[in-house]
Amino acid sequence: MKFPCRLDKFISHLAELPRSKARASIKRQAALVNGEVVTAFDFQIKQQDEVVFQGEQLVFLGKRYFMLNKPVGYVSANSDELHKTVFDLIDEPNMSDFHVAGRLDIDTTGLVILTNDGDWSHKITSPKNNKFKTYLVETQEPITDESLDALREGVQLHNEKALTRPAKAERLANYGLRLSICEGKYHQVKRMLAAVDNKVVELHREQIGNIKLDENLAAGEYRLLTAEEIKL
Ligand code: URA
Repeated sequence: MKFPCRLDKFISHLAELPRSKARASIKRQAALVNGEVVTAFDFQIKQQDEVVFQGEQLVFLGKRYFMLNKPVGYVSANSDELHKTVFDLIDEPNMSDFHVAGRLDIDTTGLVILTNDGDWSHKITSPKNNKFKTYLVETQEPITDESLDALREGVQLHNEKALTRPAKAERLANYGLRLSICEGKYHQVKRMLAAVDNKVVELHREQIGNIKLDENLAAGEYRLLTAEEIKL
């Protein structure tokens, strides 16, 4: 939410009402701004204004950032007709202006960040900013030295012009590696493994930039980012 903000939008967001209902109530003189009744829907609210609606003060919670350990079976979207979304796991007020900073596929687990700060999420997801995202990858075929070298140097993905940017790849087991990439192409890790004749069996994101998934979060749990993590 950006300030100044229209009164009807402010109320609809904070009272979690459709805009039409917020307007009907504003018309019935249910909104006070700094102690005065306001009936103009487009009245401009500043961040420091005190807004009381139907007898209750509405407080904008500001920019918020949640780290979620995404389980399998949830899509990284605000709504979906078929599947549960990551927002179904977040029990917090006023989430309608949130988005996912860096989506994961439905069958991928691990670190997802949800925020209402678009500038911040752009900084962490834009490939220009070179933020590495780190994944634990379990594969169907054994991981060869040649495939590790190819992943590090860059591989040709189907339907892409350029090779992938240099990645960090570390073998963890015969069928497991840690892969860090600084791009976010559609299904990138799965396509990179396909490019080296392998297949992803399980995929888990453990880190975005310097923000690590909190190991105390079980699948489906979330917490606020700390001030330190937001700065990272
Ligand atoms: N790469 C993928 O293929 N899937 C994800 O969910 C994330 C990265």
